[in-house]
Amino acid sequence: MNPFQLQTNKKLIFGAGERKRLIGLLDNFPPGPVALFTGRSIASSEQGKELIAAVQKARQTSLFTLSGEPSPAVVDGAALQCRKEKAAVVVALGGGSVIDAAKAVAAMSCEEGGVKDFLEGVGSSEPSGRTLPLIALPTTSGTGSEATKNAVISDRAEGYKKSLRHDNYIPPVALVDPELTLSCPRSVTIACGLDAFSQLLESYFSTKSSVLTDTLAFEGLSRLSRSFLPVCGEKASDVDGRSDLAYAAYLSGITLANAGLGTVHGIAGPMGGLFDIPHGVACGLLVKPVLDITLRKIAVKWQTERWEGKIKRVATLLSGKPVNTYQGAVDSLLSFLENWTGQLEIKPLRHYGIGEEDFGRIILKSDNKNNPYELTAEEMEQVLLAVL
Ligand SMILES: [Fe+2]
Repeated sequence: MNPFQLQTNKKLIFGAGERKRLIGLLDNFPPGPVALFTGRSIASSEQGKELIAAVQKARQTSLFTLSGEPSPAVVDGAALQCRKEKAAVVVALGGGSVIDAAKAVAAMSCEEGGVKDFLEGVGSSEPSGRTLPLIALPTTSGTGSEATKNAVISDRAEGYKKSLRHDNYIPPVALVDPELTLSCPRSVTIACGLDAFSQLLESYFSTKSSVLTDTLAFEGLSRLSRSFLPVCGEKASDVDGRSDLAYAAYLSGITLANAGLGTVHGIAGPMGGLFDIPHGVACGLLVKPVLDITLRKIAVKWQTERWEGKIKRVATLLSGKPVNTYQGAVDSLLSFLENWTGQLEIKPLRHYGIGEEDFGRIILKSDNKNNPYELTAEEMEQVLLAVL
């Protein structure tokens, strides 16, 4: 067995209704003001209002209601306020962007300088790892940010989307209550589910995957594949289905943080920095054409290694039919993806204002991360053309 390691939250609390434990959990952290980050839609829901009021009653609270992906200006402004008010604990109640914003502010409250200085591939400073404690309550089932050590920061004017990353940035507490996702609109449920799905599949096929991340990714794919379409259809209010998605998304955060991702995220990241396309939609579009090239290119290598068993297992799981050969597994996996994305009616790239003339600058900023096959620039162009 290859060596492996696992980094995750100190504490995970998972379950319907468990959000009510938030106030009790605050007692485990230093006394002092709370910086509470939230998003507009959860802040206007009954569950959100109740939780926010409970935090405000328990401690002096600065409330930050955000929309969209965090920019350096938003992070720096909130960090300045947290320093002035001597915030002791940070709470994130929202989707991936809210949790990323809170994670970045918790860290930047303890650093000198702006967040841009510390972003991978942008700044030249190394984060010290000092950070305020963070309790993350996800309200969408998608990015898995509640389990990861990075915060994605976007600067649309400069056309980048980059990570602030340190092992210490994994939130010490993830409080995952699937009931918080009940008010999530269908379009957001679809985009977030596609992100989680893609993260699970990419980390399962990652060159850095381990026996442990394989187990977790497989479990996540199993939960997600049985509940995603029903929750996006008639069962939007089914707490068991929502629990499957929240659990799958949480697992995708662990697997991406410990096994890495592949070319789908290697292209979706820069694309999201340049264009206004939901991250999960970009992933959902790219996953089939990227896998198509990857699995065919590595066929000879994989048929002689442990990978053949892996791809057969996941193809059988997702298609619901046993597959016996490598080629059968590839065909079955690709037709599953085609069928799934078709049923979800995902709009192609041109719907988001992306044209063939934009491919060059997207590809220039793209990479293969830990994909088992390194796509060339020409192959990336084929991928984009397939979903134009
Ligand atoms: Fe993602």
